[in-house]
Amino acid sequence: MPQQRELFLLAWPAGHSVSPIMQNAACAASGFPARYSAWEVAPAELGAAVRRLRDPDVLGANVTIPHKQAVLPLLDELTPAAHAIGAVNTISNRSGRLQGDNTDAGGFLAALAETGFSPPGAQVVLLGAGGAARAVLHALLGSGAIVRVANRTAGKAVQLAEEFSSAGPVSSVGSEELPVAVAACDLLINSTSVGMTVADAEDAELRSPLPVGVMPRQGLVVDLIYRPPLTLLLERAKAAGLPVQNGLPMLIHQGAQAFTIWTGRPAPVAVMRAAVESVFAAGNCRE
Ligand code: ATR
Repeated sequence: MPQQRELFLLAWPAGHSVSPIMQNAACAASGFPARYSAWEVAPAELGAAVRRLRDPDVLGANVTIPHKQAVLPLLDELTPAAHAIGAVNTISNRSGRLQGDNTDAGGFLAALAETGFSPPGAQVVLLGAGGAARAVLHALLGSGAIVRVANRTAGKAVQLAEEFSSAGPVSSVGSEELPVAVAACDLLINSTSVGMTVADAEDAELRSPLPVGVMPRQGLVVDLIYRPPLTLLLERAKAAGLPVQNGLPMLIHQGAQAFTIWTGRPAPVAVMRAAVESVFAAGNCRE
């Protein structure tokens, strides 16, 4: 029997992640002897947790909120994607040396490809300027799209656009010009957390990153949120007759790409999708 290897999700809190179900289904389907477990790691314990990843029985890990940036200086090397994005979501243990990678960008592109959308030359409006926005921006600029970034804190959108300006055509857009930019875009992406909380949001405007009526005339609308599966933004886009995609395909593809990094094998994407969908079908889709 080959030795079972360990995979971890370093998160805080870790309780609601679907990654263990998705990755364990992938390992079982591929006959790969590994076990994936969520590990709740408080920020002060991150150094000790990363040391554990160097042990020979550990294959690697995923890293999520709030550790994606904090983990960078604790690793031995970064892939170009992780370096450009400034965040790591996948770590592999290579004989005690830790390599940090970022599959959020590739996962986003693989999810986008499922819709048939073609990025080269496309006009994109990206809402949000946080960690998720950085991965999406890296992916889109690397694929030839033209991106405008809007954010509640406008200065952060300006900074982000400046930082990525050498990677492709990117600019910030302020709230006054935003409705016109959104109306004309081919792709609208929400990378903010607005729409995630279902509770205490009686006021519909607090559940959508855009005012009612601000919508692409004919573009695709992508929300990176998957809890709830249909955010108010996507509901409104559907009602306007627009194609939509939520965050589940990106979740599945970032996991699939991580699986391949760890195992060197093609990921059983259909199995991973079915595992994720069974969790959501069971109604466990609320934080
Ligand atoms: P993530 O890693 O998921 O991207 P993050 O880095 O904390 O998380 O970024 C959260 C994003 O959601 C930011 O763009 C944030 O806007 P600010 O930079 O102005 O904080 C955005 N966001 C969060 N709550 C928001 C709200 N109530 N209205 C508008 N934008 C919001």
